[in-house]
Order: sequence, then structure tokens, then C-alpha cells
Amino acid sequence: MSFETSGSLDMSDAQAKRESYRLLRAQAEALLHGERNWLANLAQFAALVYTTVPGLNWAGFYMAQGEELVLGPFQGKVACVRIAFSRGVCGACARTREIQRVEDVHAFPGHIACDSASRSELVLPVVADGRLRAVFDLDSPLLARFDEDDARGMAEALAVLIQGTDWA
Ligand code: SME
Repeated sequence: MSFETSGSLDMSDAQAKRESYRLLRAQAEALLHGERNWLANLAQFAALVYTTVPGLNWAGFYMAQGEELVLGPFQGKVACVRIAFSRGVCGACARTREIQRVEDVHAFPGHIACDSASRSELVLPVVADGRLRAVFDLDSPLLARFDEDDARGMAEALAVLIQGTDWA
């Protein structure tokens, strides 16, 4: 299969960002079309986001196993492998099943610094058939990289993955 991504998406203002997230959703649909394997789809989605969304130093999944998150498909530097639900921004997302948007990770009590370069973070729950399957974690070396439009746009792109995947 050959697939060309858009390259770096333009997120320089609110309108460009909206259009970029629309494009990201369309690219996720095209990329995942015809494949429902969870491991392949999570790996592709992490690579798509990491290579097209500007200002990231890590993008990937932590899989829910009991009361713990275990490192899944990701792009970026090597990371912490296991995170208890009680810890960090990812744990908070797993516990509450709510999007966590942290403008300054240094001000978040319990933040787990896998990479000291990370300054802001966005974590989204991956819930399918009422079950928490994973969290999707995005890190940025920029302070306050993620606003509410990023949270909404990324949740909509993630919905394409959730619906297009069989969760074994
Ligand atoms: N910072 C996260 C841990 C995961 S790494 O950033 C990849 C947290 O506090 O949960």
C-alpha cells in the first residue's frame, strides 16, 4: 500500500487548525480503511499523528490492563513502560475517562517525566463498547501547546480509530 500524508499540518491560527483536524480525520479514515487489527491500527494512528501534527515530541498509546497502563504503540523517545491508574496525567485520564489537558506539566502534581523536554501534555481516553481500552498521550516541548480546539480535534480523529478497530 502506498499512502502519502500531508506532511506538517498548519495549526498557526484557529481556522487553520480546524481545517487541519478535518484533514487529519480524513487521513485517518483513508489510512485505516480495510484494516481492523488493533495493533496495526494503533501503530499507524500514532505514526500519522506524530508525523503530521506540529510541536510534538511524543505520541502514543498506553493500554489498560487491570488498574495499570502498559506502554503500547508510540512514536518518539523510549518511555516509561507501566503507569498505575493512580499516577501521572495518563493515570488521571484512565481513572476519570476524561480528556486531560495540561498547559504546564511542571505545575501538575504527580506528572511523570519520561522526557525532561516535555512541557505540556494532552491525554485522551480510548473507550470502546463501554470499556477503557487505552489512553492516547501527546507530549509537547512547548508550553501550553494544546488548547480546547486541539482536544476536540484530536478526540474526533481518535473516534475514527475507535470505530474502525476490533478491540480483541
Ligand atoms: N507524562 C505522562 C507519562 C507518559 S510519558 O509522557 C510518555 C504522565 O504523567 O502520565
